[in-house]
Amino acid sequence: MGQPQAIDSISLDPEHRRKTGIPEFDRALGGGLVPGSLLLLGGEPGIGKSTLILQVAGRLSAQGFKSLYFSGEESPQQIKMRAERLSIHSENLFIVTGTCVEDLFKRMEGLKPDLMVIDSIQTIHTDALPSAPGSVGQLREVSVRLLRWAKETGTPTFLIGHVTKDGAIAGPKVLEHLVDTVLYFEGDMSHMFRIVRAVKNRYGATNEIGVFEMKETGLEEVGNPSRIFLEERPDKAAGSVVIPCIEGTRPVLVEIQALVGPSPLGMPRRTAIGVDHNRISLLVAVMGKRMGMEMGDQDIFVNVAGGLKVDEPAADLGIVSAMISSFLDRPVDNDMVIYGEIGLAGEVRGVNQPELRIKEAKKLGFSRCLLSKSNLESCEPLSDMELVGVDSVKGLMDVLF
Ligand code: TYD
Ligand code: MG
Repeated sequence: MGQPQAIDSISLDPEHRRKTGIPEFDRALGGGLVPGSLLLLGGEPGIGKSTLILQVAGRLSAQGFKSLYFSGEESPQQIKMRAERLSIHSENLFIVTGTCVEDLFKRMEGLKPDLMVIDSIQTIHTDALPSAPGSVGQLREVSVRLLRWAKETGTPTFLIGHVTKDGAIAGPKVLEHLVDTVLYFEGDMSHMFRIVRAVKNRYGATNEIGVFEMKETGLEEVGNPSRIFLEERPDKAAGSVVIPCIEGTRPVLVEIQALVGPSPLGMPRRTAIGVDHNRISLLVAVMGKRMGMEMGDQDIFVNVAGGLKVDEPAADLGIVSAMISSFLDRPVDNDMVIYGEIGLAGEVRGVNQPELRIKEAKKLGFSRCLLSKSNLESCEPLSDMELVGVDSVKGLMDVLF
């Protein structure tokens, strides 16, 4: 333990973050890799974890930093084949395979890498515990040792962890409190985009996302996610609404799609992909009670196009508008974006960063924005952007169509 230091005497060096050379990934990290940080990268098998981290290791190696990539899943030849696809050639990138963390420590002490990768944390074990690799006890013990090592040597260390669809089994979840940063691949493999989200970050904003596309030659950065997420938006389709979200520090436009129709079933279906289904139920109840729009006998499907997860209440007004639009089979104005939180009394509430959202919409060519009255009052008027304020869902129909 060192001497206590006065907080004013502690210096902050903004340069201490190491850029990986992949700006979308640096963004998710909050600006780059912090020395000595322990990072968990989780995601479904096959989503691209090994690919992404190999690309990161490749870039750092090209900058002259030594990387050690431990694999408990693949042979050096398999990793080499992947590296070939990704055009990674480096004398600074070292591969080691095995199963035992004690062996790995010997290699780490010998090589003194600047970056350490454990692929995956479920396939490495310590001889000190009798339990099987991948068990919760093993995961914890191995991770604690790697944490200590990362802190002592200042080496950023990635732990790759598999999660199943519900994030449950032998969870990297149990490691979340231990590590400094938790990154998850969002969505599933049926989408062409790969979204990496920082769900926890001791060194940056949470919910920051990096957006990639899986190509033949690895993960390619998507620099302008709003444009990509809206690319396949149908023209003047009922049930489609664009909402400006804030993901971390960045505004991103996404398309919400709703499909509402009479249900042939006694228990109508409610399906939500990319948004919380409890939130949908709440909004449907508010629509019934406050707008007289009863949808109890309707099947309702809500989907966020592109595979992004949206959990901001700011999406409420857009979701409700999409449901109304589909229910009435009337498209909303194609040039309009919609955001605002809805309360149980049907009131439309202001949300954070109203201007940032509007500016992003303007940048992408939208010319109208429907928002809460309170946000409208706090925003500077913008040229070529008509702002329409509502204070309750009761007034929504008048301005929507
Ligand atoms: P991988 O990184 O092995 O996934 P994970 O480590 O999360 O299990 O790669 C996943 C998929 O990506 C695999 O099915 C093949 C595909 N892929 C490409 O499409 N292009 C590429 O350049 C690479 C390396 C992989
Ligand atoms: Mg892998």
